Amino acid sequence: MKVDKCRELSENMVMFDVEHFEEMTPQCRGKVSYVSEVESTNDEAKKLVREGKAVSGMLFLADYQTQGRGRGGNQWVCPRGAGLLFSLLLEPDEAAAFWNRMSLAVGLAIVDVLGGLELDVKLKWPNDLYLGGKKLGGVLIENVNGFLIVGVGLNVDVEEFPEEVAARAISLANVCGDRVNREKLLSDIVKMIFKYGSLIGDHFGYLRERVMECFYLKEQRVEMKVNGDILEGDVLGLSENGYLLVACEDGLEEICNATEIKILK
Ligand code: BTN
Repeated sequence: MKVDKCRELSENMVMFDVEHFEEMTPQCRGKVSYVSEVESTNDEAKKLVREGKAVSGMLFLADYQTQGRGRGGNQWVCPRGAGLLFSLLLEPDEAAAFWNRMSLAVGLAIVDVLGGLELDVKLKWPNDLYLGGKKLGGVLIENVNGFLIVGVGLNVDVEEFPEEVAARAISLANVCGDRVNREKLLSDIVKMIFKYGSLIGDHFGYLRERVMECFYLKEQRVEMKVNGDILEGDVLGLSENGYLLVACEDGLEEICNATEIKILK
């Protein structure tokens, strides 16, 4: 375990208690790297995979990222100590070809854990987390040498967002009265990711049905970017593999990967 004590912690910021987290999370015991600042936790995980030192259950956690990345080449920015910013390394039993299924499993895991805090979080396909119509978090999964790097950014203690995103973003601090226990929250999320991650093969039908219960794009007319083209249509649901089914002008499309998905009012 590597703990880089942060000297620049703001007065209100509480350091993450790795020991407490590891006690609650056997899957990650002895495999947590916690630093105050890093370019991107996904990139740290990637380095370990490329060096051949990766083990399933390794967790890279940071208080702050200088080059946090989101899907579609977007940045992921979160104030120091105000989020959960982590990357979990998984070596799935199932072929990594199922990684799109894993992305739904991870989103659902987070929805369910936050449901335990009585929060009605929705999953915007493929894996953005929405609360009250605003973005609470996101998932960036990367597939490297048979490992899946599951990168999660969740707004926890962000009291105020910069003006340009304030109308579209939300944090747990905006809706939960008490301060959220980050160790317990992360532990519950990681355990749920392992649980749902084990279902992406033969039991994916169950996950798919559960995702449909918290499906943010249900029956919406949407516009999205698919391989550089703009596509518009009505969302019908999810295909057997967890791809997005959209009724477009030219017929039914099964969308594997899309960015900038906008709901058209
Ligand atoms: C998105 O909404 O586009 C996904 C955001 C994912 C951000 C997380 S933060 C931890 C991990 N490290 C990164 O650089 N990105 C992911």
